[in-house]
Amino acid sequence: MTHYNNIAHLMDNFILPKPLGFGRVFLPIMFRARFAKGDWEPGELQAYAPLMLEPGAKVLHYGQSVFEGMKAFRVNHSNPHVFRPKCHWQRLNRSLTRLCMPDIPERLFFDGIAYITAYATEKIPPEHGQSLYLRPFVFATSPDLSLKNSTCYEFLVIASPSEIYHSGTMRVLIERDRCRAAVGGTGNIKAGGNYAAALHSARESEEKGFDQTLWLDPYSRNCIEELSGMNIFAVIDRSIHTPHLTGSILGGITRDSIIQLAKNIGYEVTETDMQIEALIEQIQSGQCTELFACGTATGISSISIIGEHDGKEYILPSASPVANHLKSRLMEIQHDKKDDQFGWCWTVADQYMPAELKQFITN
Ligand code: COI
Repeated sequence: MTHYNNIAHLMDNFILPKPLGFGRVFLPIMFRARFAKGDWEPGELQAYAPLMLEPGAKVLHYGQSVFEGMKAFRVNHSNPHVFRPKCHWQRLNRSLTRLCMPDIPERLFFDGIAYITAYATEKIPPEHGQSLYLRPFVFATSPDLSLKNSTCYEFLVIASPSEIYHSGTMRVLIERDRCRAAVGGTGNIKAGGNYAAALHSARESEEKGFDQTLWLDPYSRNCIEELSGMNIFAVIDRSIHTPHLTGSILGGITRDSIIQLAKNIGYEVTETDMQIEALIEQIQSGQCTELFACGTATGISSISIIGEHDGKEYILPSASPVANHLKSRLMEIQHDKKDDQFGWCWTVADQYMPAELKQFITN
């Protein structure tokens, strides 16, 4: 078993800021592993610090970089738990494969998230809506400008005690000009470049008083795809609808959790083509009673308005019973491990816990 006595003390001096915000403050520790000579080296916890990177590193030029967003929680005085880590590991590897990067072995991934979560145990913010947001990421470091695969990579896990990404209801602006992704591209993986491509629209949305961009499909510009960092759901005639995964949409793990939860509760869930003009009519006729966004960072957020660049706005009813129902069920599982019938909460094993914490923890 690895002991990190030299860095455990860094956590002692770490104070949770108030307000926490989202992704604003990082733990003073990080997990780091290097890939060289065709294999991953064992990772280790280190002090959170700037990275040394050659200016020729491929990630800086050709964008070979992928990431995950995950959450860890703590119930009472038990070991902390992480939400659906295996799904995140599998999705990270799908992203890596698409960008021609080496898979992360399951053991290395779990070491990364487990050690950092274990050492952060006492600094996981306890309120509902708060969590330890984990950000595993991988990038290419070979200093070489040829358009060929890198031979060196780094895998890091950093962590940010956070609140939810977007509290309150959201205003969403329809993007009718630019596209986020196309089938066969990288829209269905978590590549850093997808988020860079959304920034221009995000700035325009913000300037017009909106919180997120609503992306349409790149071919017909008619079907709803997703928001910039979240999936979208609608309640139409009392049943739940979400765009089906066409190949250019990211298959969110929260999206998947909502579908499973909703079906389990007894809602009808349809994954289908959702045309924007039809949705607007359904909002105007009152058939569509709720729209909500979901993602790891945001959880579930109701949408109050969708708008157009020309100033038209379509307003949703203020009550969001379905979104609220699903949100409380999801939070019960995530925060309290209550009725976790899907087995989504993975408890960090004792082997990862720092020795000085073990004696205070009751499982
Ligand atoms: C997440 O929800 O974890 C994401 O990665 C989205 C990001 C925009 C915060």
